[in-house]
Amino acid sequence: MSILVSPSLLSADFLELGREIEMINKSEADWLHLDVMDGVFVPNISFGFPVLEAVSKVCTKPLDVHFMIVHPEHYIQQTAKTGAMMMSVHYETCIHLHRVIQEIHATGMKAGVTLNPSTPVSVLEDIIRDVDMVMLMSVNPGFGGQKFIENTIRKIECLRRMIAKSGSKALIEVDGGVQEETAPRLVQAGTDILVSGSYIFKSADPLAIIRHLKELKK
Ligand code: DX5
Ligand code: ZN
Repeated sequence: MSILVSPSLLSADFLELGREIEMINKSEADWLHLDVMDGVFVPNISFGFPVLEAVSKVCTKPLDVHFMIVHPEHYIQQTAKTGAMMMSVHYETCIHLHRVIQEIHATGMKAGVTLNPSTPVSVLEDIIRDVDMVMLMSVNPGFGGQKFIENTIRKIECLRRMIAKSGSKALIEVDGGVQEETAPRLVQAGTDILVSGSYIFKSADPLAIIRHLKELKK
């Protein structure tokens, strides 16, 4: 399987959102990554449902929605209504993670679980067979353009082993600090999906950057 690329809209020009989505539609990107923040779980606020709904009307790529909010379980139905393909919730925000995953699946969406940099992969041992994707944060969530945390490479390798051992079909996504230097190493370590915000949207040629990420060989 070739590497999947999910550009993160957080670094887009919000005054030109229509044009940015057109660029994504034309690109080789597989998904579009949308970061919802609440100013409680993370020290920043991004955008919410009005933006998700508007983007969903024009974006031809499947929406990969990353919730950095407390009580994500309150928004499962509303997320499904936007037509999102994937809803990812943070492990740290879900006391009843198994129930949340089941509720996401009941709507027909795929379910992802996200880990902060300080949360060990081992906490997923009893849920790994139930999720479609694990997202490893390679920066502390809340902002684009931060420095990649090196320990992520070790976490990918550890998660790869857990997935193989358990027979889970979960994909591995990495989010934060994905750029020229880190992307090949992440692919080498066993990532399936690369999320990338500033590296793509702040570049002079986002289409070429997306193509470059797509060409990385596993
Ligand atoms: C951060 C977000 C990321 C962010 C990544 O909390 O989850 O998706 O947009 O940005 P870059 O790729 O610039 O690190
Ligand atoms: Zn994200």
